[in-house]
Amino acid sequence: MGKITINGNEYEFKPGQTIIEVATENGLDIPHFCWHPSLSVSGNCRMCLVEVEKMPKLVIACSTYAAEGMVVNVNSEKSVDARKAVMEFILINHPLDCPICDEAGECKLQDYTFSHSVGESRFVEEKQHKNKRVQLGPRIIFDGERCISCSRCIRFSAEVAKKNQLTFVKRGDRVTINTFPGESFDNNYTLNTTDICPVGALTSKEFRFKSRVWEMSSTDSICIGCSRGCNTEIWVRNNEVLRLTPRNNPGVNSYWMCDKGRLETFKEINDVESRIEGSFVKEHDKLVKHDLLKSITKITEILKSYKASEIAFVASAYETIEDNYALLKLAKSLNIENIVLAEHKLPGDFDDILLTEDKTPNYNGAKLLFPNYIDILALTENINNGKIKAALMLDSHFKDEKVIEALSKLKDLVVFATNKNKVTELATVLLGISTYAEKNGTFLNGFGVLQRIKPAVATEEMDRSLDNLSESRWDKFGTKFDRWMKGKKYDVKPSWKLITIISGSLKVKFNFNMAEEVFNEASNNIKPLNGLDYDVISDKGVKLKF
Ligand code: SF4
Ligand code: SF4
Ligand code: FES
Repeated sequence: MGKITINGNEYEFKPGQTIIEVATENGLDIPHFCWHPSLSVSGNCRMCLVEVEKMPKLVIACSTYAAEGMVVNVNSEKSVDARKAVMEFILINHPLDCPICDEAGECKLQDYTFSHSVGESRFVEEKQHKNKRVQLGPRIIFDGERCISCSRCIRFSAEVAKKNQLTFVKRGDRVTINTFPGESFDNNYTLNTTDICPVGALTSKEFRFKSRVWEMSSTDSICIGCSRGCNTEIWVRNNEVLRLTPRNNPGVNSYWMCDKGRLETFKEINDVESRIEGSFVKEHDKLVKHDLLKSITKITEILKSYKASEIAFVASAYETIEDNYALLKLAKSLNIENIVLAEHKLPGDFDDILLTEDKTPNYNGAKLLFPNYIDILALTENINNGKIKAALMLDSHFKDEKVIEALSKLKDLVVFATNKNKVTELATVLLGISTYAEKNGTFLNGFGVLQRIKPAVATEEMDRSLDNLSESRWDKFGTKFDRWMKGKKYDVKPSWKLITIISGSLKVKFNFNMAEEVFNEASNNIKPLNGLDYDVISDKGVKLKF
């Protein structure tokens, strides 16, 4: 370890670290556009110019290695003047679209104009005009005038997405980015460029113009699209999810997530048509809405009217450890040993970047709780041969005709589900449950990392401020008369809570009021979870030792 001085303070550095890396690691901000901690260094924006003692000229902090005894001054008169000059230069041809630009509020150029620029331009000539609204790929729109030629998107495509699809074309102030001839910017990681583009040049076709960033709240969460469990932020306005963005976790997904996960895992949360609210009991072949008490009474009757060996419980790789633990506890109290757990793999749908074949976030977590589970085909056989007569299912994500046909032969079927599907139609009792964006809980990803989810969307029983959900500026300052405070709240509860209510009516009452209490009991009883709690898991997760 060597020692370097930045702004008068001494810091240790590892051999091979650049000045900007040492500064960032120690919480110091050196302004930059083109540098990104997970991409190669291009050194073309010059925004990171700093003064180093005994060096005749300013150097760029992103490509200058830290050296023993080096003394760096980020805020010397020369550095400050250089940054002002760079800002003036970059702004020469920038269109100043801020009032209509999607990036406003999270734009590096806007922020640096405020903090590092002189505030006026000497450029009186006509600005360069370039193509706006260019469809670079199926999910990406490019605005040539806003691009500051930092090359982050080009380097990302080649180095992370491993698809060399973007390049600079033309020279000087006419330079712009484009795809190679005949190519479209189309791979499963394109939307990450909208996150790393420091300005509003690359925007998501799906999200653009939907919302200003300050109108949304953001909540740390986990993508449920596959067993990678990419760390995400859920962005919500008016209690509706508008976008997902990746959250840096070096041990899981770095700064990235795939386009499928980003676009396909939140639509069902907002889908009023298919969401199941409240509870239903089948009467004369039709599901009729009832209050929860009546539905729970019916479930109690069902569970009491069969022998334990005639009932199957279906755990779920989509639901949290807390939900599955409550199911495990109920199964144990009723001596039910037929526990089913289904894998949901899409063979061949994986890559060597992030995406995995297992399309569930918590198969490992459910397996941890139910090591002796049987698979869904074994359940199908046991229903067909008459051994199983009733089932309670936390997982209803089945499309296979053989499974559906077998489930239709059950005398009684209790289904917990977020959205309508083929299985929910077969239910004797149907309970609407919270999605992953509406509850607290934990998932164990396919690589043994235990991670937390938190509620981003409020359900009927929640209040955004009282229940500590994150709030946007609109949430904080809105009143009941404001349109944006009247978003739809679903009448649903987490599965662990519904199972706790069922346990009460069966006189085996569990004492769970919060997801955290369920987790704490699970961590006492399930060996690999010993010693863990929500604080220990925190926002980066914990790698379990099996
Ligand atoms: S589009 Fe954005 S990320 Fe790409 S070069 Fe231009 S400014 Fe940089
Ligand atoms: S790789 Fe998997 S977990 Fe990550 S964003 Fe894609 S679907 Fe979601
Ligand atoms: S961040 Fe160093 S030159 Fe761009």
